[in-house]
Amino acid sequence: MKSICVLRGDGIGPEVIDCAIEVMDAVTDDLEFVYASIGNEAFRNKGSRLPEDTLQTMTETDSCLFGAVTSASGPLYDSPVLRFRSELDLYANVRPVRDIAHRRDSAVDILIVRENTEGLYTGHEVEVDEGVTTMRRVSQRAVERIVTYAINLAEASGRGSICCVHKANVLRESDGLFLREFRRAVAMKEGQLTASDQLVDSAAAKLVTSPEEFDVIVTLNLYGDILSDVAAAVVGGLGFAPSGNIGPEHSVFEPAHGSAPDIAGRGVANPTAAILSAGMMLNYLGMPDQAAQIASAVSDAYRYGGRTIDIGGSLGSRAFTEEVVRRAIEGG
Ligand code: NAI
Ligand code: MG
Repeated sequence: MKSICVLRGDGIGPEVIDCAIEVMDAVTDDLEFVYASIGNEAFRNKGSRLPEDTLQTMTETDSCLFGAVTSASGPLYDSPVLRFRSELDLYANVRPVRDIAHRRDSAVDILIVRENTEGLYTGHEVEVDEGVTTMRRVSQRAVERIVTYAINLAEASGRGSICCVHKANVLRESDGLFLREFRRAVAMKEGQLTASDQLVDSAAAKLVTSPEEFDVIVTLNLYGDILSDVAAAVVGGLGFAPSGNIGPEHSVFEPAHGSAPDIAGRGVANPTAAILSAGMMLNYLGMPDQAAQIASAVSDAYRYGGRTIDIGGSLGSRAFTEEVVRRAIEGG
């Protein structure tokens, strides 16, 4: 029996996480769900968006499934997402991008591996001389860890090539360190993986025009944040982008999208990203057959069952989940 900390969060977070739990229940009886509060509800009840008891549950369970939270404005906002990534040392953010809804003629199957603890995304800002200076740290240790993780993951998942995405033509020291470490690490692999690198701006353009040319991408924190949304749009939108935050001891799986306040409470959110995140979690927990069952049930639901509302279909969150659950049970 594996224990899962469930953090439903705000907006569409609870809607899509409930769908993901239904799908997991269809493929296994070996999970125990422990609910913990995060985001607005936690702030109202406990005065913190990431209360200590939640953090403790996250460390005591085998993995976590998280929906999304809504950011508050103002200088005192303490992002629970940044905090749990840092407190649990979740240094690798893995974002697969697949054309699971069969919307394109050519196959898109990209694995974006994003450094998850440093860089601009950590939001360290100080007011200086009537302006603001933002700190952007790139350390040897973090670079080594993420590059090694990405190369190992590429090999373990039978991938053929890996591309380092950076801006080392301008950020010569920091992104230069990332690129140099990447080149050093792939050279040690003696040609088993085809390695390349690309500047982040042209990589963004290429993701739109010829995404099928990418295999594994390894990149810095903010570039990975932006590029993964671009890549998600190529296969249908944010409702299609699952992710896993992985560290040496802990893990949190979450749809890459936010709380989507514009559609919350209407039952129209696409649960695909949350369901696929749950599948990634089962794989991580050593249940690859059940993970594959989920992925093929989602793929078949799009092929034979219909389309979700965000891509012009008529299936809301519940109706789509029913299509997936039925196929997951039949496939088991
Ligand atoms: P968002 O991802 O919540 O929404 C962007 C657009 O995509 C919206 O039009 C939304 O309706 C649509 N969308 C997102 N997920 C969808 C789904 N599953 N099905 C159908 N449509 C979907 O990003 P936005 O609007 O920039 O941010 C909203 C809030 O979420 C903000 O407070 C932001 O800070 C927060 N956020 C939280 C994240 C997290 O908790 N990990 C990640 C990203 C944003
Ligand atoms: Mg993002």
